[in-house]
Order: sequence, then C-alpha cells, then structure tokens
Amino acid sequence: MLMKYKLQLFFTRKSKFIKKNLIFKGGYMEEGKRILDVCFGSGMFYYDKDREDMVTMDIRRVDERLCDNRRLVIDPDILGDFRNIPFPNNTFSMVVFDPPHLIQAGDNSWLAKKYGKLNAASWAQDISLGFEECMRVLKPSGTLIFKWNEQQVTLNELLRAIPYKPVLGNKNDRSKTFWLVFMK
Ligand SMILES: C[S@@+](CC[C@H](N)C(=O)[O-])C[C@H]1O[C@@H](n2cnc3c(N)ncnc32)[C@H](O)[C@@H]1O
Repeated sequence: MLMKYKLQLFFTRKSKFIKKNLIFKGGYMEEGKRILDVCFGSGMFYYDKDREDMVTMDIRRVDERLCDNRRLVIDPDILGDFRNIPFPNNTFSMVVFDPPHLIQAGDNSWLAKKYGKLNAASWAQDISLGFEECMRVLKPSGTLIFKWNEQQVTLNELLRAIPYKPVLGNKNDRSKTFWLVFMK
C-alpha cells in the first residue's frame, strides 16, 4: 500500500516536472492547454490543480511557514505578470483571474503573504490592464472566470474601473466574495 502511494507520488511529481519544462521552453507551448490561471497562488479552489490541460502562472514562488505555522506553497508552472501575459493572442478557452483584492495590509501580514496586495495608487489601472490581457489571450467566445472580495474595494468600484461587463455572477454574498463570468 505504502509502496503504491510512493510510486504514485513519484509519477505525479515527475509529470509535474516534465509539464513545467515543456510548457514554455523557448516559447514552445505544449499542445492541449485550454485553461490559463494568471494568479494561481496555492490553487486552493481547484478540484484538481494538477490537471493536464491547465497552465498556472503567478508573479512569485513561495515555500515558507506563515505566522500560524501553516505552510504556504506557491509553485506555478510559470512566473509572469497579469499585466503582460507571456502568451500569444487567442490561445486559451478559459482564463481564471483571481487577483489580490487588498490595498491596505501590512507587507508581513498573513493576508498579504497569502493573497498578495494591490498597489493603492494604481490598482484600478493594474486590474484593468489585467482584464485586457486576459481577454487578449482568450480565444473568441472564450470564458473569463473572475473572483473578487469586496472587503476594501467594492464590486461596483471594481466594475467601474474595467472596460468589460460580466455575463453573470452572484449578486450578493455574506462573505463579500464574488464570482463573475465574462465572455470574449
Ligand atoms: C487572491 S491570490 C490567488 C489565490 C488563488 N486563487 C488560490 O486559490 O490560492 C492572488 C495571487 O495573485 C498573485 N499576484 C499578485 N500580483 C500579480 C501579478 N501582477 N501577476 C500575476 N500574479 C500576481 C499573488 O502572488 C497571489 O498569489
């Protein structure tokens, strides 16, 4: 049983390693990639975060213990900035965009470490650029999944800052978390 588990772990790690090295070596994009997550973080909301048809991106790699002793691992396939996504136009069928939503948080706070932080002066422009880039790499009729928490910036403020209108999404939530769907 233990042997079987160790073998499984070995092959999962090996295929993850191969995937990482294939995806963007010299601009080569592995066939069959349909989904791009541009703010992957720890990939907490996925049912399977190692799925073969997904490319994961984040601006940082992290492996550290947070102040509550929980381990934070951010280990995307590629490092990149959502304001300048390193893929050609019309590449993916689905793009997932879950940017940081805080503009005020101590740099060393648990929240900033876990979710990142927006620049207080340029957040609207940065998120808007992110939307334009996500739309650019989406194929026509592709779907953009966007997540926002309105603890510090309301959803209405956010929607006023971007040049796109969602197709659908939840209209209220006690936890202030919103999931929106856009289409190219
Ligand atoms: C709200 S968290 C994402 C959480 C993630 N969905 C999860 O399930 O763990 C936002 C992530 O965006 C990343 N990030 C911040 N600025 C970025 C940028 N300009 N480009 C790409 N990723 C960025 C942060 O490092 C952070 O991991």
